Amino acid sequence: MLKMTHVLAAVGLAAVMSHSAMAEPMKLGFLVKQPEEPWFQTEWKFADKAGKERGFEVIKIAVPDGEKTLNAIDSLAASGAKGFVICTPDPKLGSAIIAKAKSYDLKVIAVDDQFVTAKGKPMDSVPLVMMAATKIGERQGQELYKEMQKRGWDVKETGVMAITADELDTARRRTSGSMDALRAAGFPAAQIYKVPTKSNDIPGAFDAGNSLLVQHPAVKHWLILGMNDNTVLGGVRATEGQGFKAPDVIGIGINGVDAVSELSKGHATGFYGSLLPSPDVHGYKSIQMLYNWVSQGAEPPKFTEVTDVVLITRDNFTTELAKKGLK
Ligand code: GLA
Repeated sequence: MLKMTHVLAAVGLAAVMSHSAMAEPMKLGFLVKQPEEPWFQTEWKFADKAGKERGFEVIKIAVPDGEKTLNAIDSLAASGAKGFVICTPDPKLGSAIIAKAKSYDLKVIAVDDQFVTAKGKPMDSVPLVMMAATKIGERQGQELYKEMQKRGWDVKETGVMAITADELDTARRRTSGSMDALRAAGFPAAQIYKVPTKSNDIPGAFDAGNSLLVQHPAVKHWLILGMNDNTVLGGVRATEGQGFKAPDVIGIGINGVDAVSELSKGHATGFYGSLLPSPDVHGYKSIQMLYNWVSQGAEPPKFTEVTDVVLITRDNFTTELAKKGLK
């Protein structure tokens, strides 16, 4: 009798287990370096959308530094996740991330920022979803030049504040593209001033911008370029602090979604506009590729470039964001 109960209990337990294993959706991680940026919040939102459509769960984790990144991989593995998409806080963590992921048999796709080896070489073996950095940078330079001409500024009195972050390859390609395009349009190379930012946020860029402004007191009008909205916003805030008015400053950012509160202000500022790529596509596509890889063994391409971009300004940002389902 006792034996029978045991057998029944065992059968019952097995049934429950296999039922729960069947019912439990697949878990996939989405790790981002700067969750405070709407860019990354948008990626998360669209990764969730893909999960709802396909029936998998997205575990979203903020990874602002190396330690948090490695801990996040441990906790993903412990929760039974099968892989993750990541925008790493430091491209040089690439080898450590891959080693840890392999030890748990987790699949990895990089988004936005490419991994590099300890020697700084790009890790092409890891699938990457990324914006067309050079092209979008070139567009930034072209739009800055166009708007400068529209305002009828005297080029002799104009300077370019180029806030750089060259250790991040996507950033270096965007700002180089932008400066190349300005030179190609005819802007004098000697009036393009580069300054590196210590951190990729508004305060970092603000300090960089201030240090550059004090070195060039004769400049009357400024064009501001940088790798994303926050970098350019920091530069714009620096010009404001030094007494420049909105009509004498043209800043054009990249990311778009991070510029919404600035563009929503009731008055014009030196921040003229932003190039809006596709954070929705980055988020949706990267996790969908990961899901197909885990569930069907479909290996993703090593490189997926997202090229689509539109200039948003105070005049059109509401419509353009709505078109992409971002507002
Ligand atoms: C980098 C930047 C982000 C965003 C993404 C887009 O990660 O830090 O602000 O521009 O690239 O790919």
